[in-house]
Amino acid sequence: MILTEAPVVTAALEAAVRAPSPHNTQPWLFELGPDVIGVVLDEDRGLEVCDPDRREARLSCGAALLNLELAIAVAGRSCDVEFLPEKDRPELLAKVGIGLRHRPTAAEQRLAASIRVRYSNRRPFASTPVPAWARHAVRRAAREEGAKLILLDEVGLLETVAGLIRRADHIQLLDERFQAELREWTREAGSHDGVPAYAGGPRPSGGLLPVRHHGESDRVREFERDPVVAVLTTPTDGPLAQIRAGRAMQRALLTATSLGLSVSFYSQPMEIPSARAALRSLLGENEHPQVGFRLGYGFPGTTTPRRPVEEVTRSRPDSEGLRRR
Ligand SMILES: Cc1cc2nc3c(=O)[nH]c(=O)nc-3n(C[C@H](O)[C@H](O)[C@H](O)COP(=O)(O)O)c2cc1C
Repeated sequence: MILTEAPVVTAALEAAVRAPSPHNTQPWLFELGPDVIGVVLDEDRGLEVCDPDRREARLSCGAALLNLELAIAVAGRSCDVEFLPEKDRPELLAKVGIGLRHRPTAAEQRLAASIRVRYSNRRPFASTPVPAWARHAVRRAAREEGAKLILLDEVGLLETVAGLIRRADHIQLLDERFQAELREWTREAGSHDGVPAYAGGPRPSGGLLPVRHHGESDRVREFERDPVVAVLTTPTDGPLAQIRAGRAMQRALLTATSLGLSVSFYSQPMEIPSARAALRSLLGENEHPQVGFRLGYGFPGTTTPRRPVEEVTRSRPDSEGLRRR
């Protein structure tokens, strides 16, 4: 066993925390053992109303896991991942063993370079169409991780799904508990978590899709007429499928970023069981919807803050569970 030098671990953790998470809750902890990093779902940061079964928290941790692996790869080390390694600790979602020397591929370098510049862009996008090759690349990225990115490029399908998003958004707008939780996680600048008010988008004037209300001003703007909307689905559901879905989500997001595309999320129908079921019957019984995206060429925005790595790391050098087998 070789013990990994601290800079590799630090780079990996700094990349991991750049993952997206609902309301920027950052529901993760990292347990450090000798040459191994455990990715743990932090129950204390779960959203009781928006994400009662922690599906979105597992997606977020899956995204953090992919960032971790990419950062280890570009630091010149191999790694292997064990999912849900301990039956009696379901919150330990994965163990990443850091291995020997590795020559990073061009794809790993490109995706890793996108980790720091990716952010959710809730503003209107330019009307420039997203070319077929770029759509194809983002779809392929999701497929590489065992998920499917269904692009709603038939007008009828897009309108039906947009209707579901609007209805789910309306239900959440009228839900006092949902709104209280959203307010609790909407922050003024200066906080290390939560969504800063500056990251919220303007209200769309009419249009197909709503924007989640993150304490934005009352600005009203026209959004692109023909939005490119996609739903990421997995063939099964449950903890493992959701962790894998998070990796697929992140690979798709980083691929889009590397191609100069902006992305924003539309999870409203996935957060309301009846709407999620309706979406599934629309897309197919084997398509469990996990997250929705809007893709396009956005005007430059800013990244959002994260908690420092020291706050999300604990050392477990003596833990048998975290030793490499
Ligand atoms: C599973 C998941 C669901 C999300 N759903 C929404 C959503 O419905 N609306 C939205 O505006 N942002 C959504 N987000 C984006 C988060 O708010 C965002 O990732 C977080 O605030 C961090 O900001 P960043 O993506 O700019 O780094 C979602 C993120 C994740 C991981």
